[in-house]
Amino acid sequence: MLVTLEGLDGSGKTTAWEALRDEFDAVFTREPTDSWYGDAVLRSIRDDDADPLAELFLFTADHADHLSRVVRPALADGEVVVSDRYSDSRYAYQAATLADYDDLAVDDALDYVRRVHEPFTREPDRTVYLAIDPETAAERAGATNKLERLDYLRRVGENYERLLDENPERFVRVDASRTESAVVADVVRVVEAALTD
Ligand code: TMP
Repeated sequence: MLVTLEGLDGSGKTTAWEALRDEFDAVFTREPTDSWYGDAVLRSIRDDDADPLAELFLFTADHADHLSRVVRPALADGEVVVSDRYSDSRYAYQAATLADYDDLAVDDALDYVRRVHEPFTREPDRTVYLAIDPETAAERAGATNKLERLDYLRRVGENYERLLDENPERFVRVDASRTESAVVADVVRVVEAALTD
């Protein structure tokens, strides 16, 4: 069973993931990962001039390594895996970055990013989407990097909404505009339900 947490910056996703650690016996992991691939990703997102296509492939390289080193071995051992961000983050964020990239000959950037992943990724069994509006997200995140600016987060939010529409059986939406304890309680309930399904 692979459960992922997704949401805009400032949605409280990492707080929920930390609370889940106290509740469930599982392998807790995250993307960007704690590896040199993850470090390369962090360097890229701090660079306003980074090439968006190169950035997609850095994030994707980190995902490939995460899958082979952590996720697939844990699933093969029968463990539950809970990941703070996963492939949907690429579909939402990098599709937003690539929407204005003139030298990429595709009509639908989100679909392109998804097709890059399809041959090798492992789709989550359940994805919890912590929903907040982009204005709150930008305010909470404090815009310390280019991915946290309001106009950009609006596009990322639209991409997430499209993913929810297209995968209603996988996604569960949690209203993350409420208090931390209400959000955490809902996330715990959703994961509990996924595990007993
Ligand atoms: P974090 O806030 O969850 O630590 O993620 C760091 C930033 O990286 C955040 O702004 C979202 C962004 N991100 C992507 O753009 N694509 C991805 O695939 C992942 C995993 C994160």
